[in-house]
Order: sequence, then structure tokens, then C-alpha cells
Amino acid sequence: MNRTLFTLALATLAASPVNAEFHQQPRAAGIETYGYTWNSPDQDMNRALAHQADAKKGEAAYKVCKGCHKTDGSGLADADYPQLAGQHASVIIKQIMDIRAGRRDNPRMYPFSGDWIVSAEEIADIAAYLNALPTPATNGKGNGYNLAHGKTLYEKDCASCHGKTGEGDARKFFPRVAGQHFIYIKRETRESRDQGRRNANPEMVKVLKGYTDADVEAVSDHMARLKMSEKR
Ligand code: HEC
Ligand code: HEC
Repeated sequence: MNRTLFTLALATLAASPVNAEFHQQPRAAGIETYGYTWNSPDQDMNRALAHQADAKKGEAAYKVCKGCHKTDGSGLADADYPQLAGQHASVIIKQIMDIRAGRRDNPRMYPFSGDWIVSAEEIADIAAYLNALPTPATNGKGNGYNLAHGKTLYEKDCASCHGKTGEGDARKFFPRVAGQHFIYIKRETRESRDQGRRNANPEMVKVLKGYTDADVEAVSDHMARLKMSEKR
């Protein structure tokens, strides 16, 4: 093969969804399915939750995640990767297991969520490591135009689960949202409303049904600005 052909072949390979071919994400039942039971733990999730987590081992295992979620766990404000530093371990475990099992669609991360890359125990170790990292306050914010409206919506519809200061609830698998990037919050809120986030809590989806895009924008901006004390 001459050099040009070889480069062309490489480029074609790189552009083709190689991972999707070998590890196509499964599609498990989600909120769009009649009778879907939210958060009924599967075997993998139970294994991870029962594991005596070791944050030191988690730090080492986290190396496969760094390329996207960054060394300090802060993701990217202007792009697609969520902030993970300081998130509850239970939330991290649930979300990865949902991706692994096909209850949350994330074809980009799916190839890194399988047990050919990380075991259930390593996921628990990583979750403990990330939970202990400080959440950088440099997360992405919105334009700040409609914060009063966002605050009203948040306190009325969201704070009961995500907490007054955005602290979430580890025991109930409710994510911490304080310190999360605005663009990510906005996307996930909209996706949950439109049933694109298939593992979303059905009670939350019900609340979001009446939200316009402007409501989503306002509440997301408020959420991205929530501040909680670092002591959890
Ligand atoms: C190829 C890039 C990529 C890699 C590598 C990757 N992720 Fe992700 N991850 C993403 C994307 C993109 C999302 C957000 C998807 C969405 O918007 O639904 C995400 C979402 C998550 C979430 C959900 C966060 C939340 O608040 O719900 C967790 C937890 C997570 N990743 C952990 C990990 C861990 C742990 C690893 C390593 C084992 C990892 N990721 C590797 C791209 C990646
Ligand atoms: C009944 C409890 C509940 C209520 C009320 C609720 N949420 Fe949620 N929310 C959850 C749970 C649980 C998740 C995690 C998704 C999952 O796995 O079910 C979540 C996830 C999210 C996420 C994604 C967080 C992440 O880290 O990926 C956003 C953003 C969000 N909710 C916004 C909102 C907004 C905005 C409101 C109010 C309009 C709201 N939620 C009301 C329970 C709730």
C-alpha cells in the first residue's frame, strides 16, 4: 500500500464508529416504557454499592476517564463533559451503571463504562475518589438575565430533591447540582423533559413537562450558581 492510500485507510478507520461496531450500546427499558421502575439496582450496581471503596485505587483507575473528564474531575464548561468532582459516590455509580446497561444513552462514554475497562469494584473506587475531590467554583454559568425567575422555579419544583443549596441526596441517588456546568445542566434538564434521558426520575420528568425552553434556561442558570459549603 502506498503512503497516501495508507493514510486514507487510517483516516477512514478513525472516522468510522469503531467502538460502536464492537461494543454497541445496549438499549434497556427506560422512562418511555410502560411500568418502568426507576432505579431498580441490577447485579453490577449492587456489587459496586456493596464494595468497600478505596479512593487511592480509584485515583489510579480514574486514568481512563481523564481524557474527557479532566484530571481534577471538572469536565469542560463549554463542551459536553460534566463536572464530577464532589459528586455523590452513589450518583456516580448509578449513572455509570445506567450507561453500561443501556438505561442512559451515552454512546461516547459507553466503550469506557464496560467491565472490559473498569470492574464494578473499580467504579466504586473511582466514585469514592471523585467524591472526595474539591468542586472547582469555576464551572460554566449562563448569561444571568433571568435569575429571579430561575430561583422561583428551583425553590418550587427542584429543591425538594436537589436540595436548597444544590447538595442533592446521596442516599436517594439525587445528584448534587451545585458546581455543575450550566450547559450540561441545561441539556440534561431539557433531555429529561423530552424523555431523551431515559433513566431520569419519573417524578422529575412530570414536573418538567410544563417547562418552556426559557424556564429551563433560567432554572439551569440559577442551579449553576448555587453554592454549598464544602463540608458534606
Ligand atoms: C470519551 C469521553 C468520555 C470518557 C473516556 C468517559 N466519559 Fe464519562 N461522560 C462523558 C460524557 C459525554 C458524559 C455526558 C453524557 C450526557 O450528556 O448524557 C459523561 C457522563 C458521565 C457521568 C454522569 C455524570 C452525571 O452527573 O450524571 C459519570 C458519572 C461519568 N461520566 C463518569 C465517568 C468515569 C468514571 C469514566 C472512566 C471510567 C468516564 N466517565 C469516562 C464522556 C466520557
Ligand atoms: C423527585 C426528585 C427530583 C425532582 C423534583 C427533580 N429532580 Fe432532577 N434529578 C433527580 C434524579 C434522581 C436525577 C438523576 C437522574 C436519574 O438517574 O434518575 C436528577 C437529575 C437531574 C439533572 C442532571 C444532573 C446530573 O448530574 O446529570 C438535572 C440538570 C436536573 N435533575 C434538574 C432538575 C430540575 C431543573 C428540577 C426542577 C424543575 C428537578 N431536577 C427536579 C431527581 C429529581
